[in-house]
Amino acid sequence: MKPNAPRYSRITGTGSWLPPRRLTNHDMAAMLAARGVETSDEWIVERTGIRARHFADDGVNASDLALHAARHALEAAGRRAEDVDLIIVATSTPDMVFPSTACILQAKLGASGCPAFDVQAVCSGFVYGLTIADAMIRAGSASCALVIGAEVFSRILDFDDRTTCVLFGDGAGAVVLEASEEPGILASDLHADGRHVGILCTPGTVSGGQVLGDPLLKMDGQAVFKLAIGVLEQSARAVLEKAGRSEADLDWLIPHQANIRIMQGTAKKLKLPLDKLIVTVHEHGNTSAASVPLALDAAVKSGRVKRGDTVMLEGVGGGFTWGAVLLDF
Ligand code: ACO
Repeated sequence: MKPNAPRYSRITGTGSWLPPRRLTNHDMAAMLAARGVETSDEWIVERTGIRARHFADDGVNASDLALHAARHALEAAGRRAEDVDLIIVATSTPDMVFPSTACILQAKLGASGCPAFDVQAVCSGFVYGLTIADAMIRAGSASCALVIGAEVFSRILDFDDRTTCVLFGDGAGAVVLEASEEPGILASDLHADGRHVGILCTPGTVSGGQVLGDPLLKMDGQAVFKLAIGVLEQSARAVLEKAGRSEADLDWLIPHQANIRIMQGTAKKLKLPLDKLIVTVHEHGNTSAASVPLALDAAVKSGRVKRGDTVMLEGVGGGFTWGAVLLDF
C-alpha cells in the first residue's frame, strides 16, 4: 500500500472443508428409523431443498475443520500462516468453553502472536466476523486477516427430534481478507433482536461440573422462517443503499444456506433471477456460521464468482441475528 492511499479490505483467497462422512436423506431416514423416528427424502427435499449433509467423526472438532479451510484459503491467496495478523472464527460449536476456537486454530496453524478470537452470532457469525475484520483492516489494526466459519452442529442435534436433526450439517469455510487500495468490502449491515432468543437456541450451560439445562438444539421452525424472510430482504436493501448500489448491480446473492424456500423467496423479493443465487444447501444442509463461506468458496471454485463481481453475503440465525455484506470480489 502507498502511504496515504485509501485503505479498504478485499478478499484475496477462499477455502473450505467438509468432513468426509456424507449422509444422504436416505441415510438419515434409515438412521432415524432405527430410533423409531420417521422421516423421508421426499419430506426433507420438498420442505428444505436439502439432499445431503456431512458429519464430522468423533474427536474431530470445529478447529480441525477450520484448519483445513484456512490452509486452502491461505494457499488461494498466496499467503503463509506467518503473514496472518488477525484470526476470527465464527462458531456456535466451539471446541471448548474456553479458550476460543480461534486460539486453538492459531496454534494448529502456527500463526502465534496475532489477535485471535471467536464471534458468536450463530448463522450470522460469518457476516459479523467479516464486518469486524473489515473495520480492523480499515482502521490499520490488521492487514491480513483470516475469517472463518466452522461448525460441528451434529454434536448439538437431538436425533429424536425430526423437525431439527435433518436440517443441519458440519463444515468450515474461510477467507483471507487483506488491506487494499481498491474496495473490496463496500458496506455491511448488522442487526440483532434478543427478544427472540427462545425461537432458536441450545439452552444448556456448564455449571458446578455439570451440564445444566438442555444441551441440544431447539427451534420453532415456522417463527424462524417468518422472521428470516423479512429481515433478509430488509438487510439486502439497507446494505445496497449504504453502498449506493442497486439490485441491478448484483452479480451474485449468497444467503445463509438454511432452506431453499427462504433463499428463493429473498431473491424474488429483490427481483433477482434465480440463476444469480448461489445454492449449496442441497449438498451441505445448514452449516450455520460455515454456510456462507462454504457457498462462496464453492462458487469461486466452480468459476461462477469471478474477480470484480459484485456479491452480497447474507446471514440470519439464532439470537435473533441477521446482516449483510456487499463486496466487489
Ligand atoms: N420428516 C417428516 N415429517 C416432518 C419432519 C421430518 N423431518 N419434520 C416435521 N415433520 C412434520 C411435522 O410433524 C408436521 O406434521 P403434522 O402436520 O402432522 O403436525 C409437518 O411435517 C409440517 O411441519 P412444519 O413444522 O409445519 O413444516 P414447515 O413447512 O414449517 O417446515 C422447516 C419446517 C423446514 C423447519 C421450516 O419451518 C424452516 O425451514 N424454518 C426455518 C429454519 C431456518 O431458516 N433456520 C435458519 C437459522 S438456523 C440457525 O441459526 C442455527
